[in-house]
Amino acid sequence: MSHSLDIQAIRNDFPILNELVNGKPLVYFDNAATTQKPRLVLDALSGYYEHYNANIHRGIHFLAEKATSAFEQSRHRLQAFLNAAHAEEIIFTYGTTDGINLVASSYGRTFLKAGDEIIISTMEHHSNIVPWQMLCEEKGCVLKVIPINDEGEILMDEYEKLLTERTKFVSVVHVSNSLGTINPVKEIIAKAHAVGAKVLLDGAQASSHLTIDVQDLDCDFYSLSLHKIYGPTGMGILYGKRDLLNAMPPYRGGGEMIKEVTFEKTTYNELPYKFEAGTPNIADVVAAKFALDYVDTLGKPNIAAYENELLKYATEAVSEIPGLKIIGRAKEKVSVLSFVIDGIHHQDIGVLLDQQGIAVRTGHHCTQPLMNRFNITGTSRASFAVYNTTEEIDKLIVGLHKVQKMLG
Ligand code: ALA
Repeated sequence: MSHSLDIQAIRNDFPILNELVNGKPLVYFDNAATTQKPRLVLDALSGYYEHYNANIHRGIHFLAEKATSAFEQSRHRLQAFLNAAHAEEIIFTYGTTDGINLVASSYGRTFLKAGDEIIISTMEHHSNIVPWQMLCEEKGCVLKVIPINDEGEILMDEYEKLLTERTKFVSVVHVSNSLGTINPVKEIIAKAHAVGAKVLLDGAQASSHLTIDVQDLDCDFYSLSLHKIYGPTGMGILYGKRDLLNAMPPYRGGGEMIKEVTFEKTTYNELPYKFEAGTPNIADVVAAKFALDYVDTLGKPNIAAYENELLKYATEAVSEIPGLKIIGRAKEKVSVLSFVIDGIHHQDIGVLLDQQGIAVRTGHHCTQPLMNRFNITGTSRASFAVYNTTEEIDKLIVGLHKVQKMLG
């Protein structure tokens, strides 16, 4: 064993794992969609509402100050989590999608013009395709797509061929949600910078598995969601380099993002508040800190080592299922196992596994162009987190045999 985790003790931290689904103990393998939440995070949420619920940055009373302080502590915690140079480089958002839209809207509309080229990859989530398509439609920019090989890896030589002096922005996923591929983002960033392009990383899947250091990566923007890191839904962050964020106009107008408002002219607040209009998701931001503390207590490298063991175990185990093909066999992968089975529709697999208490995601996983690349309409996807076990994977294998018996 390459980790030092007490998995049973960890499972006890997650109350939902005691649920029965269709009369069977829940086997939760849909962690790439969202992870479950430990008691610590649930307590932080109810603790906030029970003891110090107040709006932030506005009041001078005790509760407002306590809520503001907890909110800003979370910002510092996330700064440390990403090793960002400055706390004001951490903008609270509603999630990864929101962060990408912020950059496409604010940076894109201001600094990109007709004929400029934006590069994405074949394995992008729709949230890292559509905002750029909308921008291209509005501004006349051109979207270019890096192809991938049959294993689900970016073709770096093809990427290099796409890079020209017209390339102004590169936006790629750090870890693919559908395949699990870990992309060579440091190299992608360096090559983009060499032609003067800015780079955004979609970190939705990476942030729960990998240690992220935005200064070492030298990315210009990094967007992620906390609900994939054992934290609450509806909140995420956008990291951006301070000079870039300072140069960008606000994305939404409203309270908090202003310095002074008159009917004639409004001046904007400083970072990070310029990008945080309206009352934010205070409880969820506050609880996010506890999710990161939980991850730190276990140790990210321990979590990654354990998840890799689960992936290896599952990859070997599914090889005994006749007609099963894994989609995504990159050398560098996180614990995502996507597969198709000859003659059986992915949706039927999902429904029949659910009857056995096993939750997997089925479909195109918001990556339709990627599915087209593999000539499939979707996959079944089992994605593992730190509370999963090899015994649960054994149940998946038994479940898949049952599915085959019924439908194969
Ligand atoms: N993007 C999330 C997933 O892959 C929702 O399931």
